[in-house]
Amino acid sequence: MTAIERYLEENYDRFLAELFEFLSIPSVSAAPEHNADTRRCAEWLAAHINGIGIKAETHETAGHPIVYGEWNGAGADAPTVLFYGHYDVQPVDPLDLWTNPPFGPVIRDGNIYARGATDDKGQVFLHIKALEAHLKTTGSLPVNVKLLIEGEEEVGSNNLERFIAENTDTLLCDCVLISDTPIFAPGIPSLVYGLRGLCYMEVTVTGPNRDLHSGAFGGAVENPINALCAMIARLKDAYGRITIPGFYDDVRLLSPEEQAEFARLPFSQQNYNSGLNIPAEFGEFGYTTNERVWARPTLDVNGIYGGYTGEGAKTVLPSKASAKISMRLVPDQDNSDIARKFERYFRSIAPPTVTVNVTELHGANPVITPRESRGMNAATQALEYAYGKKPFHVREGGSIPVCLLFDTILHAPTVLMGFGLSDENAHSPDEHFLLDNFKKGMTATAMFYKLV
Ligand code: BES
Ligand code: ZN
Repeated sequence: MTAIERYLEENYDRFLAELFEFLSIPSVSAAPEHNADTRRCAEWLAAHINGIGIKAETHETAGHPIVYGEWNGAGADAPTVLFYGHYDVQPVDPLDLWTNPPFGPVIRDGNIYARGATDDKGQVFLHIKALEAHLKTTGSLPVNVKLLIEGEEEVGSNNLERFIAENTDTLLCDCVLISDTPIFAPGIPSLVYGLRGLCYMEVTVTGPNRDLHSGAFGGAVENPINALCAMIARLKDAYGRITIPGFYDDVRLLSPEEQAEFARLPFSQQNYNSGLNIPAEFGEFGYTTNERVWARPTLDVNGIYGGYTGEGAKTVLPSKASAKISMRLVPDQDNSDIARKFERYFRSIAPPTVTVNVTELHGANPVITPRESRGMNAATQALEYAYGKKPFHVREGGSIPVCLLFDTILHAPTVLMGFGLSDENAHSPDEHFLLDNFKKGMTATAMFYKLV
């Protein structure tokens, strides 16, 4: 055991206590009522990073603050790693489905439960502790390190592009490291080389100028909820293919090598289904589950609202109905192009009895990161050291909006070395993070900084 590993082990209980503090701050970026908490979280984090010996500050944006820190003690000839993560979390509703309060972390069955445990506070924190272990045992770091931890990832990273564009020289680096993805399965490490993009739309269908008595008007005036449902039903065909004209134009097909690689992964469809309690899997005809999630675009209704949803019955013909509809995109689709195609088609399928409003809420482009780079080699060895197994190469279905910018603005290759698990309830009640991955993540990360 190295001195660094001994440090990680001896200080483990303190690390957990600190992580509890971090997880207790409700930094819900989407909720204005939590703006002060989100700011407090940024300040807590910056203070914590300063405490381990890396100079860090919060930076104002038009939205939530960015935490930025750097340590340049390795000298101009040593490589520089830019670590990116996010301290903001998703909303917690439905609150009544949480076993313990989302911002009252607890440990149960080897997991830490709290909103943000796996996405992404737990993963950010393990990096800070790996850096602390280097600094406290050797007095320095093997490489120069920049830490960029934002508070708006879960709402589309709208202000980060500007920060990166305005601070390009400050952020220049040889490699970007992100831990905001899962490993393939417990004990089976993986490196992610592809993420899907996102095009998130909100639509409103308006019928009459006010809510009406459904007896007095029903049958003679279009019901906007009925119209919206009929329109949504026309967005996909019976085979699960999206019907928006031109939607698939730029979809890059999986190479035969990737298909073969994915097919070799230890995956059980039966366990997948039973873990989710679904009677059967679903998806586009002709693709496996991993292919559907990692390499095929989708369209999902995320929420639908309108009319009367309170207790009992109310006979109303509503004036409006709305839906939030998002599309996950794959290389080489472009989120602005898809937003335009969606809007054009959605308007074209509206009946003449309603008016339609379409807005784009946020977007992210899909990415493929280099599979061969100095950073990827270091990550491969670091994961093998921590898990005793060579990592698989996989893609993932989620999105990290800023990922592409590191390539286009900083021209640095990104390494997606995450330590979560897909079934840790990110974005849903009872989010948790396996402590074994928290520990192995610290070891792997400490090793990464040494090897890169
Ligand atoms: N950690 C996720 C991204 C992720 C999820 C990667 C699953 C791989 C697998 C990230 O915090 C996230 O949830 N991103 C949002 C971005 C969106 C709000 C623009 C997402 O994917 O929904
Ligand atoms: Zn998330």
